[in-house]
Amino acid sequence: MQQAIAILDSGVGGLTVAKEVMRQLPQEKILYFGDTARTPYGPRPAEEVLAFTHQIVDYLLQYDPKMIVIACNTATAVGLQEIRARVDIPVLGVIHPGVRAAIKITKSNRVGVIGTEGTIRSGAYEQALRQISPFVTVEQLACPQFVTLVENGQTHGVETERIVAETLHPMKSKEIDCLILGCTHYPFLTDVIGKVMGEDVHLISSADETAREISTILYHRGQLMQSGEVPVHQFFSSGDAQLFKDIASNWLQQEIQVTPVSWHTVRP
Ligand code: DGL
Repeated sequence: MQQAIAILDSGVGGLTVAKEVMRQLPQEKILYFGDTARTPYGPRPAEEVLAFTHQIVDYLLQYDPKMIVIACNTATAVGLQEIRARVDIPVLGVIHPGVRAAIKITKSNRVGVIGTEGTIRSGAYEQALRQISPFVTVEQLACPQFVTLVENGQTHGVETERIVAETLHPMKSKEIDCLILGCTHYPFLTDVIGKVMGEDVHLISSADETAREISTILYHRGQLMQSGEVPVHQFFSSGDAQLFKDIASNWLQQEIQVTPVSWHTVRP
């Protein structure tokens, strides 16, 4: 049995990371869990997000993955250290990879970060950016409506453009040269966000850098898949499996099968 890379998120957001992993590591099998029944995580208290993350990690561990990727900034901010401490396989979050990409790209040292209320409240980005470069000025903004837009499949159109423009308005005057999409759902809105922020602001998704880091870790552990077989990925959704399937198939440009998971029937 091929050991998989397990990826989790509150919903479809982590698919932005999964897609990049599929592109960079086409031989690797992916197990993806979208907790669509309980999305969004952003407005929830940190303890609740942490409890959900533990629960999903336990669910995924049943499949004996070789690595866990918390492809959710909100869960990474509150739970990465704790999950790492209790699981004996590598656990990767999405905040540091995005931060590294921003540091590489910024010329003005003025970096914007957008994310969920939970992520922004945690201050995790500011801390991670300053840890690498104390000279960076960080401008942060929570965008509470973006996740719901994405989970409903509303990634384009007049209403979406209006909401995105209104929400990002305060960021427009901050003279940043790059903007970290500090929520894995936001790359679904790249076109609209790009239009609002303009060409001079570089949009950074942590997906590229996270996939590269997965590749490096697996290489050093001698765990990169060698076979030429095409892997069969597995997707789990705790909410509306059909909606998840539609959004995921469209985003990944492939027909996928989704296994519905009901939290009522999962043993603690
Ligand atoms: N995609 C997640 C993140 O990166 C969670 C968004 C949410 O559920 O609020 O933060």
